[in-house]
Amino acid sequence: MYVCICQAVTERQIHEAAWRCAKTIKDLRRDLDVTADCGRCAGCAKQCLREAHAAIESELYAVAA
Ligand code: FES
Repeated sequence: MYVCICQAVTERQIHEAAWRCAKTIKDLRRDLDVTADCGRCAGCAKQCLREAHAAIESELYAVAA
């Protein structure tokens, strides 16, 4: 699913950026140009990044257990 229409950035790309240590919207903007145009995707991108971090945490816990 597209999160940022202007830059054609998908949820999957945001998850991959999170794995590469993207922590904030600023990081997503630097890595993928998310919010670089109209900025309407900021809220959705933040939510997507939060979900990505939660998924990463749970995967890391599963590996450690
Ligand atoms: S939808 Fe992301 S900058 Fe416009």
